[in-house]
Amino acid sequence: MKNFNFLQIDPLSIKDNLIKLISADWMLVTAGNKKKINTMTANWGGMGYLWNRPVVFVFVRPERYTYQFTERSESFTLSFFNEEYRPTLNICGSKSGRDCDKISEASLTPVFTELGNPTFKEAKLVIECRKLYSELLAKDAFIDMEPVAAHYSGQAGIHKLYIAEIKKVWIK
Ligand SMILES: Cc1cc2nc3c(=O)[nH]c(=O)nc-3n(C[C@H](O)[C@H](O)[C@H](O)COP(=O)(O)O)c2cc1C
Repeated sequence: MKNFNFLQIDPLSIKDNLIKLISADWMLVTAGNKKKINTMTANWGGMGYLWNRPVVFVFVRPERYTYQFTERSESFTLSFFNEEYRPTLNICGSKSGRDCDKISEASLTPVFTELGNPTFKEAKLVIECRKLYSELLAKDAFIDMEPVAAHYSGQAGIHKLYIAEIKKVWIK
């Protein structure tokens, strides 16, 4: 098992523009334990402040294999990478861990934080989060129906929202 070789920083010291970081650079949502982990690429979500603590929020469709891991785990990580890892993020966003060992195919090296949460040696920024709240989005709660028509009218399931407390932030 590779060593966890990151430096901890305060969440307030994250320098990146978070909208760009999530929407354009993308992230891996990773959960599991030392026996089994899974990861998937995501670019919907955010970070902010809620219930007097720094939080992230992410959206995972129930048909993702990763969903089984985010459901079962108390915590998950968000991992961010330099541009050279775009092919890695494309693999993790197009293949399912249900069908293949995509972590190996994507040349990622799993490492575990001291709290036991999985991330990857290759990441440049890791946000370690503990779940606070989760709920499937409700179609009848939409005020503007455009996103429902665009994203929830076909076969694909409606996303589950996870709001999670930021426990630790790690950089290289
Ligand atoms: C750029 C990008 C962003 C994505 N964002 C999300 C997302 O926010 N939520 C989600 O459920 N799936 C998202 N996906 C799709 C999953 O990454 C994809 O279905 C993946 O293969 C799931 O893998 P898994 O079955 O191993 O969990 C995204 C894919 C890409 C390429």
